[in-house]
Amino acid sequence: MKDTGPRLLVALDYKDSAQCLSLVEQLNPADCRLKIGKELFTACGPSIVESVQKLGFDVFLDLKFHDIPNTVAGAVSSAAALGVWMVNVHALGGQRMMEAAREALQQSRQAPLLIAVTVLTSMDDADLRGLGIEDSAEQLVARLAQLAKTSGMDGVVSSAMEVAGMKQALGSAFLSITPGIRPASAEKDDQRRVVTPEQAMANGSDYIVVGRPITQAENPAQACAAIASSIRI
Ligand code: C5P
Repeated sequence: MKDTGPRLLVALDYKDSAQCLSLVEQLNPADCRLKIGKELFTACGPSIVESVQKLGFDVFLDLKFHDIPNTVAGAVSSAAALGVWMVNVHALGGQRMMEAAREALQQSRQAPLLIAVTVLTSMDDADLRGLGIEDSAEQLVARLAQLAKTSGMDGVVSSAMEVAGMKQALGSAFLSITPGIRPASAEKDDQRRVVTPEQAMANGSDYIVVGRPITQAENPAQACAAIASSIRI
């Protein structure tokens, strides 16, 4: 079924719930969904998910599960019980782990989208050789994206620069979630290879992840609304 909800996912990289909620209260659920990662979730626990859901937002629980199949199956079931909209795992956990996650969600009343992370963008070819992996990062991303699809994932997190190739290889229905997004006017912060929201969508991204250009903006509500309207389809 076609998703008619917002394509903009705001990354809530905060340590405490008060700061996080004071930002979220300024945002409009018609403009964006929210991404909760390890920092905020470890500090605040499931209650922060419930708090932002009560304000009307869908949640992408970005905890990148990577463990034995049985444990990851349990973790994604717990995420589903929280009512999150999207959850993710590391493709490097392998096919059996991803299949166990998919199977676990088949029992849920409302299964979240199940997304895989391929290779962390912080890792380059030299890091992979240090792990005994001879493939380049690019080769490994392609291999893991294919494995994620075979294992029943709904999509992968990838750079907006790689979306077109990925869609060509894996089909347009396989979702692509892309961080590293910066409006033309914004600071790059520590991101290197950035893409504008409009370009990311033109490349075929299904969802863009934006953090600091909204969370650190002088007027977050305005920054969020502006990005949302620049990519509205
Ligand atoms: O503030 P900024 O827009 O750079 O935040 C991007 C968000 O996306 C952060 O939560 C970051 O951890 C996440 N992310 C990323 N690059 C990846 C995967 C996730 O920036 N390859």
